[in-house]
Amino acid sequence: MSTTENTPKKRILTGITPTGIPHLGNYVGAIRPAIKSIQNSDDEAFFFLPDYHGIVKCDDPTIIHASSKANAATWIACGLDPERVTFYRQSDVPEITELAWILNCSCAKGLMNRAHAYKAAVDINAEKPDVDADFGITMGLFGYPVLMAADILMFNATHVPVGRDQVQHIEMARDMAGSFNHKYKSLFTLPEAVVDDEMPLLTGLDGRKMSKSYGNTIPLFGDMNPQISSEAQLKKAVMKIVTNSQLPGEPKDPDASTLFEIYRAFATPSEIADMREQFAAGIGWGDAKEALFDKINNEIAPFRARYEELMANPKELEEILQMGADKARRHSRKQLDKTRRAIGIRPLAKLK
Ligand code: TRP
Repeated sequence: MSTTENTPKKRILTGITPTGIPHLGNYVGAIRPAIKSIQNSDDEAFFFLPDYHGIVKCDDPTIIHASSKANAATWIACGLDPERVTFYRQSDVPEITELAWILNCSCAKGLMNRAHAYKAAVDINAEKPDVDADFGITMGLFGYPVLMAADILMFNATHVPVGRDQVQHIEMARDMAGSFNHKYKSLFTLPEAVVDDEMPLLTGLDGRKMSKSYGNTIPLFGDMNPQISSEAQLKKAVMKIVTNSQLPGEPKDPDASTLFEIYRAFATPSEIADMREQFAAGIGWGDAKEALFDKINNEIAPFRARYEELMANPKELEEILQMGADKARRHSRKQLDKTRRAIGIRPLAKLK
């Protein structure tokens, strides 16, 4: 990605869709780097919960609600400072969905036809006999990138940290900004995707990419209805990571191991080098799992108490989110007003 060292101030914006319990992949790939990236900098930051994106993927109201809560608690517990960061729920900022409509009206349908997520859904249908190409595909899924563009353009974000799978969406947001600016008025900043190439996408328990849609995740603080402590749950999940059948004493290939990959995301360079040697020396899978559990747990144990406190006290969380919504709306009202005026929607006269 190109850099924009010469821009005076960065405005960073990112969101994690609340359709499940935050897992290690979310933490390592999004939450931790987002929080770190704004420490010791004066960049502006907007972090939010895209719950209207959530309902595209999940139609279970209980999950949407519970996971919004778990996601909000996770961000705060992991160190997000809501005074420093504008932290809000997408649905509390109605200007965003209004802007999405406006963008819909200048966004080419053909651009959306090329979106990876939509094309993947169409491809699955194509493999089935007697099934329409668009079977089961909602307008929400089709227009998903437009709502995402509205999230970003509303706040004139300059930098959007995302996983590699989201880069196309940022490029589409640039496209939509460009079309609008050209057609009406230059109101929108062209955002840039920020992808951390160092950070591998974490592999899940079953060897596929760690993703809530595969149900193979390691939850960060345990699930929402814990029968056992969240620390015990973390241990149980780590023990479930799939390994091969090599015995203790046999040299193992770290680069083919999910365990090692996750270890790398939590360890220092010298610890990583040391673990590499232990793999070569034939560390048993059980011992490697113990070492991995300790590494993860050392990092997240300090956040656990705060997480549990917030989960037990949703009023505090709601207050934090409402404060964030107030801050966000100070920007979004102005930006929407300018956008409406640019397209010809404005009062006919001033009323006293
Ligand atoms: N689509 C993103 C994801 O699934 C979540 C998201 C929604 C987002 N709106 C955004 C990310 C705006 C960055 C900026 O990961």
